[in-house]
Amino acid sequence: MKRFQLFIRGVATNWIGTAGVALTTSAFVLFVFFELMHVAGLVTNAYVGMISYMALPALFILGLILVPVGWGIYRRQVGRPTSELLTRRFPDDMTRAKRLGSSLVGMIALLTVVNILFLGVGGARMLHFMDTPEFCGTACHPIMEPEWTAYRNSPHASVRCVDCHVGEGAGALVNAKLNGLWQVISATFDLYEKPVPTPVHQLRPARETCEKCHWPEKFYGDRIKTVAHFARDEHNTPSFTTLALKVGSGSGKEEGTIHWHVAAANEVRYRTADDKRLVMEWVEVRRGDAFHRFTNRNLPPLPEPEGDHPLEPRSMDCVDCHNRATHIFRDPEAALDLALATGDIDTTLPFAKKIGLQALLGDHPDKEAALAGIDRSVRGTYRRMAGHQRLATDPRTDRLVAALQEIFADNIFFPMNVGWNPYPDHLGHRGQGGCFRCHNPDLVDEAGEAIPYDCTLCHSILAMDAPSRFQYLLPVAEKDPDRKLHHFLQQEFLGLVP
Ligand code: HEC
Ligand code: HEC
Ligand code: HEC
Ligand code: HEC
Ligand code: HEC
Repeated sequence: MKRFQLFIRGVATNWIGTAGVALTTSAFVLFVFFELMHVAGLVTNAYVGMISYMALPALFILGLILVPVGWGIYRRQVGRPTSELLTRRFPDDMTRAKRLGSSLVGMIALLTVVNILFLGVGGARMLHFMDTPEFCGTACHPIMEPEWTAYRNSPHASVRCVDCHVGEGAGALVNAKLNGLWQVISATFDLYEKPVPTPVHQLRPARETCEKCHWPEKFYGDRIKTVAHFARDEHNTPSFTTLALKVGSGSGKEEGTIHWHVAAANEVRYRTADDKRLVMEWVEVRRGDAFHRFTNRNLPPLPEPEGDHPLEPRSMDCVDCHNRATHIFRDPEAALDLALATGDIDTTLPFAKKIGLQALLGDHPDKEAALAGIDRSVRGTYRRMAGHQRLATDPRTDRLVAALQEIFADNIFFPMNVGWNPYPDHLGHRGQGGCFRCHNPDLVDEAGEAIPYDCTLCHSILAMDAPSRFQYLLPVAEKDPDRKLHHFLQQEFLGLVP
């Protein structure tokens, strides 16, 4: 200990050396402190992670560099060999100086080992930390804010970003870190595109990601899905559409199902005319050993051979349909319908849908103004509405305002130019993209046959805009011989029998 103190005094030659010693020591102490807090589970915050795994090691290294720099300057100023300098540092105490001189080499060797250990541990912890969603999602806030927000509201909130975005193995890791370096540079100099463009080309292949948790062979049968829509009238009148989606399995055993595309035995590949994968140039399906091609008859032929074409053909996988399984952004109408269906907005509040939509679509310069504007718009509208003035302060209106503000904050990101629903969703056929990119009358083979697109290929429509969520069960109930189910449904859900 004594030797250590002596050593510290010895190297702290001038203010540069002293600063170096202070930096290195305090970075080390703070790192140990944060690490203990972390192990004890007292801090999980991303910013603390960034401080302890990135800022502290950087300060530590800076300190280490300053020490010899300080010593070098001191030596230049005094102009004597090192051994003599040591004696000059302690003119009052020659024995001390001699002792220091003799142990200098040993001390440096010991500290070097400690430093390497520290930097090794720090580096490993840093790499690990860079793989956490907290780091990916918040390190370059606000660039990642839209994806980070959508991710935390998604069914994949506990899947790490790197599990979908970074491949396995050292090559992928180096690739991702180089990419990360470029991202840091582009973030620093504001070179990135807003919003961040899709599709993501370095996405890990679905076989290595999605299929680790979802096992296509194990899907089976239809999936009943009911979508609720609400009218923009006084009663927010609901209507329910129920589909039996022929999801099926990816085993390839079932014919005519949606997951047929990803069965190991099948392959669909395509080339698009645009980088967004919205307009198909051709689509091919493997039949036996050969590929059967459907060509878009609305497009002029694009350059062949393949080498000249800017875009590579791609084999279809999960994300060609489930591209928004994690980063889900909604348009205002869909977001409102969902909030009304889940009860976040009270459906008994007159005109809630209409007034909510109007408030969401207002023009606002930034987030703060928007959140305040939504509140003002909703209450102002009720105040001006004959017979409904008291609704301006109704508790149901408070809930509406809170729900609208949440919808807005989850979907609109001013710094990234992310407005309502900036990315196409390929799962259905609303808006751009979706199944109809391929299933349409324009993609035809040589015989003029199109990829099938009739309305019952992918789903049966069990109920369309029905007044009740359970309407689709009525035909089943009709078949019940003693009509118990029928009576029960009518009584409990349709309110038809008193
Ligand atoms: C379950 C898999 C999965 C996880 C987990 C995931 N992503 Fe993604 N991410 C995707 C897919 C798929 C796309 C491509 C979307 C498309 O093509 O439309 C994407 C696209 C993106 C994009 C491009 C912009 C956009 O919205 O399309 C960014 C940025 C992004 N992800 C960041 C993140 C961050 C940050 C995290 C963790 C906080 C994360 N991702 C977690 C699958 C995932
Ligand atoms: C680490 C495991 C994991 C990975 C990797 C993963 N998922 Fe998931 N996924 C889940 C879990 C857990 C859920 C939530 C299940 C639930 O809520 O019933 C889920 C839900 C889903 C759902 C919604 C199902 C529903 O009931 O609506 C879809 C679609 C989906 N995942 C597709 C994907 C796709 C596509 C990928 C690859 C880009 C992927 N998943 C990667 C674990 C994973
Ligand atoms: C990249 C093009 C492409 C996209 C996108 C696409 N499909 Fe297909 N789909 C095909 C091709 C090609 C076939 C096979 C046609 C044939 O064999 O004649 C097919 C066949 C099918 C079949 C019948 C399967 C069978 O056993 O013959 C269903 C069901 C289907 N698709 C549903 C969907 C749904 C639902 C979506 C959207 C979520 C979708 N497809 C998106 C290209 C596509
Ligand atoms: C051709 C488009 C298409 C492809 C390719 C595709 N899916 Fe799906 N998948 C769908 C549709 C459509 C649904 C039903 C959507 C819904 O319920 O909203 C679905 C449903 C699901 C569900 C929910 C299943 C259930 O029964 O609850 C999961 C999980 C899922 N897919 C995962 C995957 C995975 C993993 C892959 C890749 C191996 C994949 N899908 C490939 C179109 C596709
Ligand atoms: C290639 C497959 C495919 C074909 C062909 C197809 N659909 Fe769909 N449709 C889907 C999928 C997948 C969804 C569900 C999307 C989701 O999960 O949100 C859907 C959803 C719907 C919905 C519910 C939308 C909502 O949000 O209310 C309606 C209505 C619908 N389809 C009608 C039709 C009609 C009418 C046709 C014929 C013109 C048709 N579909 C053809 C795949 C298809």
